[in-house]
Amino acid sequence: MSGKRHSENFRPGRVPGHSDGRLYSPTFERNHQPVIAALLARLGTEPGAALEIGSGVGQHIQAFARALPHLRWQPSEPDPIHRNSIDAWSAFFGNNLPAAIALDASREFGTEIAQLAPLRLIFSMNVIHIAPYGVASSIITTAAHRLAPGGWLGFYGPFTEGGLHTGEGNANFDAGLRADNPAWGVRDVDELAALAIAAGLSQAELDVMPANNRILWFQQPA
Ligand SMILES: C[S@@+](CC[C@H](N)C(=O)[O-])C[C@H]1O[C@@H](n2cnc3c(N)ncnc32)[C@H](O)[C@@H]1O
Repeated sequence: MSGKRHSENFRPGRVPGHSDGRLYSPTFERNHQPVIAALLARLGTEPGAALEIGSGVGQHIQAFARALPHLRWQPSEPDPIHRNSIDAWSAFFGNNLPAAIALDASREFGTEIAQLAPLRLIFSMNVIHIAPYGVASSIITTAAHRLAPGGWLGFYGPFTEGGLHTGEGNANFDAGLRADNPAWGVRDVDELAALAIAAGLSQAELDVMPANNRILWFQQPA
């Protein structure tokens, strides 16, 4: 990963030749297959409900729902243009994914997702570093209340480990994020683990992903 600004990592455009609201994210092709492999390895085939937070343009959740059909997938996204794209992808594939909910994770959102709980999975890709720290802590706190016993919380993206970046590209990316918005920035595995453990979730586990990304996992005790 080179020293990209966040806007270069997530620059959705219209699907060429279509005006149905579907937006296309270039990162989808690069990262969805390794993420699906990690989800399958972590979650197995046990059924349950799965919530994605910050579904973006909605391509990932389509692929997740096809690869893990034993989970009932719920997209969510605060941006109305993105929600429109998520729902347009669902219509395009003709699946039965529910409409994206307008979930802003910057505050506790347990009530908004109460009807989905208890959840087998809460998953969020490339969100908590492009948002104030309160988004990460609110997701952790809400997950501790709404995950089923044995359920998983997963954060995909770049992280520091023990305060250290896992590559020079991530250090440059982090500096770019903080220049864009001082409240943003690559989050630290140990800090998030301390929050999660204080909230009652388990010790962190990490899956190594391509391009110096990780999935940081926490589990609800069984
Ligand atoms: C970089 S995009 C990632 C989208 C998608 N998950 C992906 O990996 O391609 C970040 C997304 O986080 C969403 N987001 C920003 N602040 C948020 C918040 N407070 N709660 C939930 N989602 C948020 C944005 O609207 C955007 O769709």
